[in-house]
Amino acid sequence: MASLGQTIFWSIISIIIVLAGAIALIIGFGISGRHSIRVTTLTSAGNIGEDGILSCIFEPDIKLSDIVIQWLKEGVMGLVHEFKEGKDDLSDQDEMFRGRTAVFADQVIGGNASLRLKNVQLTDAGTYKCYIITSKGKGNANLEYKTGAFSIPEVNVDYNASSESLRCEAPRWFPQPTVVWASQVDQGANFSEVSNTSFELNSENVTMKVVSVLYNVTINNTYSCMIENNIAKATGDIKVTGGFDTFSTLCSVVRKQRTQSLQRCLPTGTNTSESKHWP
Ligand SMILES: *[C@@H]1O[C@H](CO)[C@@H](O)[C@H](O)[C@H]1NC(C)=O
Ligand SMILES: *[C@@H]1O[C@H](CO)[C@@H](O)[C@H](O)[C@H]1NC(C)=O
Ligand SMILES: *[C@@H]1O[C@H](CO)[C@@H](O)[C@H](O)[C@H]1NC(C)=O
Ligand SMILES: *[C@@H]1O[C@H](CO)[C@@H](O)[C@H](O)[C@H]1NC(C)=O
Ligand SMILES: *[C@@H]1O[C@H](CO)[C@@H](O)[C@H](O)[C@H]1NC(C)=O
Ligand SMILES: *[C@@H]1O[C@H](CO)[C@@H](O)[C@H](O)[C@H]1NC(C)=O
Ligand SMILES: *[C@@H]1O[C@H](CO)[C@@H](O)[C@H](O)[C@H]1NC(C)=O
Ligand SMILES: *[C@@H]1O[C@H](CO)[C@@H](O)[C@H](O)[C@H]1NC(C)=O
Repeated sequence: MASLGQTIFWSIISIIIVLAGAIALIIGFGISGRHSIRVTTLTSAGNIGEDGILSCIFEPDIKLSDIVIQWLKEGVMGLVHEFKEGKDDLSDQDEMFRGRTAVFADQVIGGNASLRLKNVQLTDAGTYKCYIITSKGKGNANLEYKTGAFSIPEVNVDYNASSESLRCEAPRWFPQPTVVWASQVDQGANFSEVSNTSFELNSENVTMKVVSVLYNVTINNTYSCMIENNIAKATGDIKVTGGFDTFSTLCSVVRKQRTQSLQRCLPTGTNTSESKHWP
């Protein structure tokens, strides 16, 4: 049987161990708590063959030399990009990103860690991590990057068709999109029975050319050709006026997801030299 002295001795030892643990925990939390900064990413789909931006912002720091930016990609051994002590450090960069990445060095001081990715490939899709260290602490955020192809459609009168037809054409899409026609006059009408859409693989065997023909169109009407896949949606409009003498097109491409970058092409206006009088 343990003596009273032994019991007190072991109790005191236990209390000391518990207290030491608690103090270590408090100190640990204090350090890690102070070392957490806010990092936010924004996703925008990448268009194959063009340059893309992986957006990332963080709580700014006045000391540029203390800022470290690391971009990592899930399943990739090396780094995507590293920036520290005010400049790029690409010594641990993975081969697949060699010569293709850049941060906006003059914007880093303001909390912009966005990465520019040259010549986006289908294989660039995946989960990226934006990891930041500053004198205030560190933080990270993930970004889901989708890649594909999308382009603005052009709508014109189809001169080769036997009936009054419109032809909607877009050079590069991937994955295969859906094409839906709409008209201002017959809102809600379903044109699937009076149109014909085809997809033709481009020479690199990834993207496809989209062509859709709408038959039996009426005068004094505006038609829209809408092309959509899981990463983008694009619309081309054409206004068909008196006897096809004049028409104009307006078009736009919108990338899906939170940041929407909008591209517009200006109206081509009236091109009477392209007019056609139907018999
Ligand atoms: C970061 O800077 C670049 C270059 O000025 C700019 O295009 C981009 O929109 C900025 N990103 C953010 C998230 O502010
Ligand atoms: C019309 O047909 C000609 C000859 O078949 C062809 O070269 C041209 O591309 C066609 N144009 C349209 C808009 O389909
Ligand atoms: C239009 O009609 C086709 C069949 O005629 C049908 O498959 C399609 O779902 C319809 N589209 C809409 C938007 O109602
Ligand atoms: C277009 O209209 C003509 C005459 O009304 C009709 O014969 C033809 O089937 C129509 N074409 C389509 C694709 O609906
Ligand atoms: C659609 O186009 C294809 C290829 O050009 C053609 O074979 C088919 O007959 C067309 N379908 C209709 C309904 O016009
Ligand atoms: C595309 O595919 C075709 C047939 O499958 C092949 O002959 C051609 O070499 C391919 N082109 C490229 C650039 O891979
Ligand atoms: C188209 O609109 C013009 C002016 O509003 C009108 O004079 C013309 O008759 C209309 N044409 C058709 C086919 O409805
Ligand atoms: C007008 O149409 C003609 C003939 O198709 C073409 O050569 C010319 O480039 C067009 N002009 C404009 C401004 O689109």
